[in-house]
Amino acid sequence: MSKSVKRLKYYEFLNYNLIYNNKAINRYNRDNFELSEDKSKSLDLLKKSIINQKNCDLKKHAQNIVFSDGNPKSKIMVIGEAPGANEDQEGLPFVGRAGQLLDKMLSAINLDRKKVYISNIINYRPPENRRPTEAEIKRYLPFISKHIEIINPKILVLLGSTAMNALIGDEIVISKMRGKWIEKQFGSCKTSVIITFHPAFLMRQPAQKKLAWIDLKMIRDKKNNLKI
Ligand code: URA
Repeated sequence: MSKSVKRLKYYEFLNYNLIYNNKAINRYNRDNFELSEDKSKSLDLLKKSIINQKNCDLKKHAQNIVFSDGNPKSKIMVIGEAPGANEDQEGLPFVGRAGQLLDKMLSAINLDRKKVYISNIINYRPPENRRPTEAEIKRYLPFISKHIEIINPKILVLLGSTAMNALIGDEIVISKMRGKWIEKQFGSCKTSVIITFHPAFLMRQPAQKKLAWIDLKMIRDKKNNLKI
C-alpha cells in the first residue's frame, strides 16, 4: 500500500472530516424524513383539499385516496398517471405490476422508493383502469402542480404521456419529447424535467426498454452532477 493511500485510510480511521470540519455535526438521521413543519403542514392541507373536493365522480368509486409514497425531502420526484386496483386498495402509488417494474428501473440507477418521492396526476382510481378524461386531468392539475411546488424537486421524472401532456403541454408526443431535459417552473419551484416511458407501456412494449435505459442513465448522470 502506498504512503498516501495509508495516510488516507488513517485519516478516515480518525474521522478526519468530523475533526477538521468546523460545521456543526448533524445528529439527525437523514433517512427519518423529518420534515419542516411548513412542508408537512402544506402536504396535509393539500391532501385534505383533495379529499374535500365536491362532485368528483372518481372519488365516489374509489376506495382510497392515493396521495404519494417515498421521501418528501427527496430532490427527485416521479409522477405517473393514476392509481390502478392495487394502488386503490393500498392507498399507495405504484404498488402493482407497473410499480414492480418502476422499482426495478429505479434500482438500476441506484435509487429506490425511499430515496425518491412518487405521486400521480390523478389521486383516485379511474373505474376499470381507464385513462383519465380531459376534464378529470383539468380538475386535478392544480393539485399536482401545488404538490410539485411543495416538494420542490431538482429533478422531476414524468412517466408516460398523460403526465407529460398534463404538465408540459398537449401538443407534444412522447416519442419526440422523451430523453430530453426541460427547465420548468411550478409556482416557486424551478426544476429539470425529463419524460420517459410509463412502466405499464414498457411491459406491453419491452423493446422500448432500451430507450428507457438511456433516459434512466440521464437521470443518474444529472443526479450525480447535482450531487443529489
Ligand atoms: N400507474 C400509474 O400511473 N400510477 C400508479 O400509481 C400505478 C400505476
